[in-house]
Amino acid sequence: MLSFQQLQLIFQKYLDENQILETPSELYHPVNYILSLGGKRLRPVMLLMAYNLFCEDVEKALPAAFSVEIFHNFSLVHDDIMDQAPLRRGNPTVHEKYNVNTGILSGDVMLIYAYKYLMKVENQQRVVDLVNLFNQIAVEVCEGQQYDMNFEEQHDVSIPEYLKMISLKTAALLAGAMKMGALIANASEQDAQRVYDFGKNVGIAFQLQDDILDTFGDPQKFGKRVGGDIIQNKKTYLVLRAMELADIPTKTKLNNLLSGYTQNEDLKVKEVTEIFDMLNIQYEAERIKEDHLEKAYEALSEIDVPKENKLVLRGLADRLMKREV
Ligand code: IPE
Ligand code: IPE
Ligand code: MG
Ligand code: MG
Ligand code: MG
Repeated sequence: MLSFQQLQLIFQKYLDENQILETPSELYHPVNYILSLGGKRLRPVMLLMAYNLFCEDVEKALPAAFSVEIFHNFSLVHDDIMDQAPLRRGNPTVHEKYNVNTGILSGDVMLIYAYKYLMKVENQQRVVDLVNLFNQIAVEVCEGQQYDMNFEEQHDVSIPEYLKMISLKTAALLAGAMKMGALIANASEQDAQRVYDFGKNVGIAFQLQDDILDTFGDPQKFGKRVGGDIIQNKKTYLVLRAMELADIPTKTKLNNLLSGYTQNEDLKVKEVTEIFDMLNIQYEAERIKEDHLEKAYEALSEIDVPKENKLVLRGLADRLMKREV
């Protein structure tokens, strides 16, 4: 089994060799810009890890790994427009560096390239299954993104609704990427499902950590604007749990703070964060994250491969829970 770092290097080399250098440059420069800013390369590495549970020759899964990373970056470009985010991976977002129209169209072309690379998979008998799975993931991401946007205006979002939303917008892609790796490796349907379940729970925990970092992260490390979710009135777990725990005056204050938009964004972030601190919300979020991590371990334990093959995936899940970026 190759380590996270080894797989990251193998993937990075493939990405460097497959830069999309087409014309017009106005369309493709932003594509290479966002893809070259780095990031953890988590989804391709998870796809390769899932493949590597069953087979050694990971290079066979590289085109599909690239496909999911292009798709992920496409979703980030459009997400940053929707979230009005200024920073991504410590650099200006595509729509800030170029403009919104560029973000839309360069994002669109990335989505198409994601399919182009998916079709290059060597295991051609699996292409139809892979495209079907990819379609399902892509639709789920859009559905999750729409719930996320709807919830900005909605004040009675429940925690189960939130969990469904993050399961769609984030966990579907992590889980789906892993299942793709298993399918390319010709794993059994049962094992592919267990790999998927592992990815789904890791994905939910991963988005919970993203929500924690969005408020409590170190701005020097996080690479995105800390406080962005609060500014956008996102109904994260932090907000929903705070609503459950707060007394009536605090609840009213939080509701007021998270309605509409203010000129003084720093003050809004400060006041909401103080409420979270008072209610020990970071601890609350850590707890539910751990619950999902446990479910991920359960799914992992059922996959029918030697125990030592699974250690890398367990290590990855542990490491993601403690991440600062
Ligand atoms: C950001 O994903 C979007 C979320 C689902 C939280 P990552 O945190 O994996 O972003 P990069 O690719 O490492 O920058
Ligand atoms: C991202 O959710 C999910 C996507 C489908 C892109 P976020 O909006 O929380 O992601 P970040 O924090 O901007 O990376
Ligand atoms: Mg978003
Ligand atoms: Mg965002
Ligand atoms: Mg976020």
